[in-house]
Amino acid sequence: MAVASRSSQSFFVLHFSSLSITILLCSFLLSPLPTAAFASSGVRVEGLESRPRNLYPEILRDEAVARLRQLGEVSDADGYLERTFLSPASVKAGNLIRQWMEEAGLRTWIDYMGNVHGRVEGRNESAEALLIGSHLDTVVDAGIFDGSLGIISALAALKVLNSNGKLQAVRRPIEVIAFSDEEGVRFQSTFLGSAAVAGILPASALHISDKSGVTVEDVLKDSSLDITEENLLKVKYEPRSVWGYVEVHIEQGPVLEHTGFPLAVVKGIAGQTRLKVTVRGSQGHAGTVPMSMRQDPMPAAAEGIVLLESLCKCPEEFLSYDGHCKSISLKSLSSSLVCTVGEITTWPSASNVIPGQVTFTIDLRTIDDMGREAVIYEFSNRMHQICDQRSVSCTIERKHDANAVLCDTELSMRLKSAAYSAVTRLTGEIQDEVPVLMSGAGHDAMAMSHLTKVGMLFVRCRGGVSHSPEENVLDEDVWTSGLAVLSFIETQL
Ligand SMILES: *[C@@H]1O[C@H](CO)[C@@H](O)[C@H](O)[C@H]1NC(C)=O
Ligand SMILES: [Zn+2]
Repeated sequence: MAVASRSSQSFFVLHFSSLSITILLCSFLLSPLPTAAFASSGVRVEGLESRPRNLYPEILRDEAVARLRQLGEVSDADGYLERTFLSPASVKAGNLIRQWMEEAGLRTWIDYMGNVHGRVEGRNESAEALLIGSHLDTVVDAGIFDGSLGIISALAALKVLNSNGKLQAVRRPIEVIAFSDEEGVRFQSTFLGSAAVAGILPASALHISDKSGVTVEDVLKDSSLDITEENLLKVKYEPRSVWGYVEVHIEQGPVLEHTGFPLAVVKGIAGQTRLKVTVRGSQGHAGTVPMSMRQDPMPAAAEGIVLLESLCKCPEEFLSYDGHCKSISLKSLSSSLVCTVGEITTWPSASNVIPGQVTFTIDLRTIDDMGREAVIYEFSNRMHQICDQRSVSCTIERKHDANAVLCDTELSMRLKSAAYSAVTRLTGEIQDEVPVLMSGAGHDAMAMSHLTKVGMLFVRCRGGVSHSPEENVLDEDVWTSGLAVLSFIETQL
């Protein structure tokens, strides 16, 4: 397994440098794994093939991978993977997961929003619970790891504990939740499952309808789930009954593969703003209006788009000498800022007409909320200047805003030492520091952060590809993620 070199961890990779010493200390404090085979470290083993297979508990190894593949077969479509909120395949997947939860020794139930729960009370059932989860729904033509890996790795870890007779000995209740909706494919509303558990899903969400007019409420009732506004409130957890929420998820980006490390700790989930920029000019004949007499919104839009790219690549060049960014950390901004123009429309959109109007969207994400505001402010000023110079008018509308979610420092430290310990145990080598990444994509942890402190681990995926059947995670990285959850839970023994 290749090991990350510090210099290659640039883009997106933030460092908890002050944590590294603590991490090393923590990893010594972890109790040894139940299987004796794990105790043999210090031996440098070269290839995975040359290692004895019993180095890994059976459950973490073949079973976790086999279950991911089995779950990946549970689809509403022929020939590709699709599981939307409470579709027949989702119900079937939920039942399968429920069965696996029971095999791991957990007590199970399905709540009114279709989330599947499996719980062990441990030594003190009134202690605050550790929740571990991810989503069981998928996008259309999905990969088999997005969401499922977080559920399967948690169940694998708990099953190992159960088979070693330690499951009942956990210090606090541990509950795995397979959320019914994260992708929001069917109702265009993400986090139906986790938002309900976190208590932030408004009752109005039950009346959202899909393309054919079927509502969320209809779908739940069709699955014999007696959803009412009153029962929706029962899905919500009391903050004081919960200790924290942990989620393992594939990275869905290329950074981990680039660093050569299988796991990363997530520093936080980026905040996001969506803008709509409309540039209006003077519509005209492409053959008759001289260049000097045009008010063409297209070059203005083009200049604005290129400006946005420069601004987001090097925000420090644009913001550092301005008054409005004194209080923001340019480092955290420039290491996490991503901006995308994904949609552009023109009117009347004909090859022989100078357009009258050009509209484009901006998707802007960073973990630094104040930095996000500074970038929007700077872009807006400069965009208006461009429009003035070109004698066109522009308006910039804010369509969507979500603040960043920072992961809890203590949970992140524990997850980091668990990841470090898992990788070290699997490779038999002392490893470099576990990378710390920002998540540019939203996750259930975002909704759960309204309920409790959250922590996340990212798992390396091939080429950073996700939301595609090409999505792939190495078998050994599946084992590593299960082992990391196990190491993490062992700190709760
Ligand atoms: C169980 O947890 C509760 C809530 O945290 C705590 O008050 C109580 O002391 C715990 N009981 C034991 C035996 O540790
Ligand atoms: Zn996901």
